Amino acid sequence: MKALVGMLAGVLLLCGAGSAVGVRVWTSAVVDTRGKVDFVNRLAVPPLAQSRIDERGRRVFDLRAQPGRRDFGRGGPTPTWGYNGDYLGPTLRAKRGEEVLVNVANGIGEPTSVHWHGMHLPAAMDGGPHQMVAPGATWSPHWRVDQPAATLWYHPHPHGETEQHVYRGLAGMFILDDDESARLDLPRRYGVDDIPLIVQDRAFESDGRFDDGTGELGGIGILGDTLLVNGTVAPYLDVPGERVRLRLLNGSNARTYDFGLADNRSFALVGTDGGLLTAPHQTRRIRLSPGERAEIVVSMRPAERVTLRSYPPESGLDFFNRRFTGGSDTFDVLQLRAAGTLQPSPEVPTRLAPIERLDPASATTTRRFDLAGRDINGRRMDLGRIDAVVTRDSTEIWEINKVDGTPHSFHVHDVQFQVLSVAGREPPPELRGWKDTILLEARRPVRIIARFADYADPDMPYMFHCHLLRHEDQGMMGQFVVVEPGQRPGRPPAAGAGHAGHG
Ligand code: C2O
Ligand code: CU
Ligand code: CU
Repeated sequence: MKALVGMLAGVLLLCGAGSAVGVRVWTSAVVDTRGKVDFVNRLAVPPLAQSRIDERGRRVFDLRAQPGRRDFGRGGPTPTWGYNGDYLGPTLRAKRGEEVLVNVANGIGEPTSVHWHGMHLPAAMDGGPHQMVAPGATWSPHWRVDQPAATLWYHPHPHGETEQHVYRGLAGMFILDDDESARLDLPRRYGVDDIPLIVQDRAFESDGRFDDGTGELGGIGILGDTLLVNGTVAPYLDVPGERVRLRLLNGSNARTYDFGLADNRSFALVGTDGGLLTAPHQTRRIRLSPGERAEIVVSMRPAERVTLRSYPPESGLDFFNRRFTGGSDTFDVLQLRAAGTLQPSPEVPTRLAPIERLDPASATTTRRFDLAGRDINGRRMDLGRIDAVVTRDSTEIWEINKVDGTPHSFHVHDVQFQVLSVAGREPPPELRGWKDTILLEARRPVRIIARFADYADPDMPYMFHCHLLRHEDQGMMGQFVVVEPGQRPGRPPAAGAGHAGHG
């Protein structure tokens, strides 16, 4: 509804022909930074988080959410939040089979949580809205890493506040390794030829503060006209070898990107949200909605400079919805600067990781999720309500359908899923690997399949939701529990428990 009102406001302003405000609103709705970014700042690479092994053999990390200030060169220092620093957080890294424990300390003076996006782990460790960390408190979830090598991430998930917490800078990458990926000839020197890229758009006030975007027309929340990559404005990256692996994370609140190189060369897509593909997919574009990841390998020639760009993403929106939700925008993202003499890098392997296809015939349940407005199946998030009960060790098919004109996506906690079909057709190559988040297009239903292998807990739910963070905050989210066969769902912790300070 708000989206519609916002759009009507935009249209009305425009119709007041000659209205200066209307013209301003209209023109400011399209951003195009092609050729306008000077790339004067060396790309910051988030440090790898320090860890230690405790007496029980667990790899222990420490994260502290804290306030800070960062000068982005946009009018003055910006008040920010970060983990162990002023903006974003260190990259956590662990290997399949390891037990990890993360001490999450809350130093921001209000309740927050940390969710491990893409991680398969018990619901009580998931860091969703039921695992709030009070100001001054420390929460110490632990689990065994039990999934393929992948580029995951972490971010706050406090119900109703996620948009603002992420926007102020709370997010980081979580890289998983395994034996198979270690044997592959892919670039793997972190920060050298294996580069995390957390891409976020921000809007600045004239004094340097982040504009919180409350005036947006598109109803999807904050859309900025300035791109940050790992917190760096106008970044460049020195590339020492013939190939560079980029781990792209769309860490933005609302914006969808369609990444490609400015000279339209192709690159190898080698991984998606939940791990490596079975084989590289040579392509010129990769579209990522908020929360999605892609690993790509780009080949370079000596001494060249090539720009990573985001092109207007095609996602089946009508003209107005497209224009007011960033769908017509173009950004120069990052300049890759090749050394004069490039170190040789091996060809991208033709086979990457095995992916066992989940068989639709093995599914015991098919569920439907219709997304419209801020509702899923006509309902908004209720922390005290269980929307779906899944039996442990079962396979399910979920059919997800967006039935309005606003952009939405769908993200599922706990599992990585496979896409069976999009609008009744075989998924394109970029949707044939493991996924945990997918952009929806109007009336092109997506069928996904997932196995809920373990971690039954009748009382503690996992979330599924639209990953446009304002929508999520406004209630476009639901909860499912995983139970033992025959077990009945229990009750989630009382709504609001651990929620002091939230409206
Ligand atoms: Cu990335 Cu439920 O979130
Ligand atoms: Cu998640
Ligand atoms: Cu949405």
